Amino acid sequence: MQTIKKYVEANKQRFLDELFELLRFPSVSADPKYKDDVRNAAEYVAEKLRDAGADNVEVCPTAGHPIVYGEKIIDSSKPTVLVYGHYDVQPADPLELWETPPFEPTVRDGKIFARGACDDKGQFYMHVKAFELMQETGTLACNIKFMIEGEEEVGSDNLDAFVKANKQRLDADVVLISDTAMISLDSPSLETGLRGLSYLEVEVTGPNRDLHSGVYGGAVANPATILAKLIASLHDENNRIYIPGFYDDVVELSDVERRALNEAPFDETDYKSDLGIKALWGENGYTTIERTGIRPTLEVNGIWGGYIGKGAKTVLPSKAYAKISMRLVPNQDSNKITALFSKHFESIAPDYVTVKVTPHHGGQPAVTPTDSIAYRAAEKAIEEAFGKKPIPTRGGGSIPIVSLFEDELGLKTVLMGFGLDSDNLHSPNEKYDIANYFKGIETIPLFHKYFAELS
Ligand code: BES
Ligand code: MN
Ligand code: MN
Repeated sequence: MQTIKKYVEANKQRFLDELFELLRFPSVSADPKYKDDVRNAAEYVAEKLRDAGADNVEVCPTAGHPIVYGEKIIDSSKPTVLVYGHYDVQPADPLELWETPPFEPTVRDGKIFARGACDDKGQFYMHVKAFELMQETGTLACNIKFMIEGEEEVGSDNLDAFVKANKQRLDADVVLISDTAMISLDSPSLETGLRGLSYLEVEVTGPNRDLHSGVYGGAVANPATILAKLIASLHDENNRIYIPGFYDDVVELSDVERRALNEAPFDETDYKSDLGIKALWGENGYTTIERTGIRPTLEVNGIWGGYIGKGAKTVLPSKAYAKISMRLVPNQDSNKITALFSKHFESIAPDYVTVKVTPHHGGQPAVTPTDSIAYRAAEKAIEEAFGKKPIPTRGGGSIPIVSLFEDELGLKTVLMGFGLDSDNLHSPNEKYDIANYFKGIETIPLFHKYFAELS
């Protein structure tokens, strides 16, 4: 631990400077206009892996954005850790809500503000620096492989093919990911599961053209009104999702498991005041921790149609749209839920309109073991670095690669995230605490040490 602390202390400024340089690339995977920036970010990651001492570093082309690979094999008899992360980021808009520009990292109050600061540049880069530290201090205990992708935020469409084509290269003993949150530096935690995702877009069409709302209004159904009604019908009076068969495969946790989950510290007053809301909402019979961790949900991500420009235009729109996503829990299947939703939504559409449902990406839910050597190594590493044993929690977000690694490579994952739920992921003013960044760099080498020792 002393060696680790000394190395981090001596290199703090450079560790920050390098991360800032990475954060300056607007590597937004969703928007084709940033294609070159995404590519440049990948090249930068590759260069930094090489500088840190990785071998066989390659920017691997895919049908979309490239995947960066690099490795250090010290001894084939030692265990191998596969580090996964993503260098792509979510779009930064609405830009006007950022206090400082999203791609000009700025430190305020000990926090780095920038798109990707926490999700996931700040988090995967801790592994690059921890690797440098182990390499430079001669303390590498495991073989290490890096796979840093550029399409996580758009559904990792090309990852499946890459993993299938590179099974040998990606062979490892465990996958280590820092792309999740912990409760706080005072209450360190490890996520032991992630929700899956099913994402669709719906289009509701009424009349064959936009109409004068005075001339036709009252006689022709307004697709925006119908869409609002259809969406409202997707939750029942207990805030449960009203799609036949939706809950069929949901694994209910035992009372013991639920009690353990609810032992994590949670302050409802702080939670509400942070969000600026007076009351919480959710499925009856479940706590907030359960609603965001072990229960499935349905959300409208966007809804539009008709006139949304400045001023007023009296129009009865021809079409209305919504983007809808569902978070899934074990053992729900993303494809099955997508099909159930489509069938249900089409069946409830009244004759006044026609509806079209178009599936976007999805991802399977995952649970990660808490009785494995790797989990114990993570527990010990956190206990040593933080002075406290981590609390196991369930994450509400999705990282579809976790189930892909399990299915294709037979590998289990450890989710050792150092972000906070309040880091504004996907929101304006995303941030990452500098303290969490350095704490992560200190904890990761301990994981490698204990994983090698326990293996
Ligand atoms: N890092 C997040 C997932 C996450 C966030 C997990 C917080 C746990 C806690 C990841 O980058 C992400 O945003 N995933 C997407 C899914 C993807 C298929 C677009 C998500 O969860 O919406
Ligand atoms: Mn992420
Ligand atoms: Mn994300």
